[in-house]
Amino acid sequence: MERSGVSRRALGALALGSAAMGLSGCEGGHETDLKPRSRQFPKDFVWGVATAAFQTEGSQAVDGRGPSVWDLFEKVPGHVKDKSDATVATDSYRRFQEDVDLIAGAGLSAYRFSISWSRVMPTGGRTVNAAGLDHYSKLVDALLAKGISPYATLFHWDLPQGLQDKGGWANRDTALRFADYAHAVVDKLGDRLKNYIILNEAAVHAVFGHVLGEHAPGLKDINLLGKVVHHMNLGQGLAMRALRAAQGDLQVGTTMALQPCRPAGGLFWNRLAADGLDALWNKAWLDPLFKGTYPKDMDDLLKGVIQDGDLKTVRQPVDFLGVNYYAPAYVRLDLSSPSKIAPANPPRGAELDAFGRHIDPSGLFETLDRVRREYGAPRMMVTENGCSDPFGSGPAILDDQFRITYLRRHLEAVLAAREAGCDVRGYFEWTLIDNFEWDLGYTSKFGLVAMDRKTGVRTPKASYSWFKALAGNGLLPA
Ligand code: FCB
Repeated sequence: MERSGVSRRALGALALGSAAMGLSGCEGGHETDLKPRSRQFPKDFVWGVATAAFQTEGSQAVDGRGPSVWDLFEKVPGHVKDKSDATVATDSYRRFQEDVDLIAGAGLSAYRFSISWSRVMPTGGRTVNAAGLDHYSKLVDALLAKGISPYATLFHWDLPQGLQDKGGWANRDTALRFADYAHAVVDKLGDRLKNYIILNEAAVHAVFGHVLGEHAPGLKDINLLGKVVHHMNLGQGLAMRALRAAQGDLQVGTTMALQPCRPAGGLFWNRLAADGLDALWNKAWLDPLFKGTYPKDMDDLLKGVIQDGDLKTVRQPVDFLGVNYYAPAYVRLDLSSPSKIAPANPPRGAELDAFGRHIDPSGLFETLDRVRREYGAPRMMVTENGCSDPFGSGPAILDDQFRITYLRRHLEAVLAAREAGCDVRGYFEWTLIDNFEWDLGYTSKFGLVAMDRKTGVRTPKASYSWFKALAGNGLLPA
């Protein structure tokens, strides 16, 4: 695949010309909006915010934490846009009580955070680091004390470097180590931590980390792709089994970056590229989990990778599917690229977010409804959705009406999906506090809360109050 931007960065770069000419932030026309019949969410709907360890914790050399692939990647000049790093981030390892207070202050019922594998197992081997687990134990207790349900993601892209040194996800052994890690977590926290999200957006980690080189571990080798995809699916299946074997009362789910893949210009030859991307981006993760199969398009990539019994292991019951949605992907056929897939601009005149992606709430409806129709109507949670300020190093926009508009429109799509029969039980906004946005450093700000990077002082934005009101009565304002 050519530098693709199927979900994130490069697509933004491609479309930046039009973004600069017209739009900034996440506001615009409303031609793609859904109109639900009712604006009322049910009482037991889960309202939360989502974060990830590497983007927030800082304290990288504390309490026996081992390095992750992102520790090395972020230090290489050119990898992070503003030359920043996550050594402090939102300092949430030390200031987690303040984060919990902010979540409680907004009246939210849930918090999705991720556990850093290399805090728990510093080299990725079998040795457990009690101090690392203690941190999450304290965080879980602090959340429960305020009546907030913890949702822990086990893998949000920060593989222990010790495992990367042995081949990372391209090495089948990593899947087994992942199950050991899941076991260590549930062993210590399972009495209080009941909600698990196994992987976060495995497609992004696989493609941006191993083919495009824009994320850690920074590899550009399409030959790794089949192995990485399958071993992540395998690790997920093994981890789900390990959790359930340890305890019977857990809610076990996983989170995927699902995107409608659309042919540029609606042209039929671009449809071939769109279908190819759909196979890799959506079906390569949904099919194994729900059906125990891989899409045909993956045959070549997977040659020699799948072993006997694997397809049984990757197919596991899920208590909920986590859906992360930001934008649809547009692609075109490119015969000169090995994958034949190339990124394309959104339609002319489309509203664009800060990444240059199409702001299209109907894509969220389409995604949820597709999962309902094609994958047996599982229970779902939107585990990420949100938008960034226009990119830049200046201060955050505190009166962030564009974010409120974006959230409102996507929540209309959630309501419409529920009315169409999708069993969507919750919504986690990305994210609580402006944080380290991977290769974009601090130039991208997604928070409901701003942070002064010198002092760490947190300041809620207008969207924080808006979200609080919504979580309070479940009524989506018009
Ligand atoms: C998602 C990631 C999350 C954050 C948001 C903006 O793809 O899961 O960590 O980067 O995008």
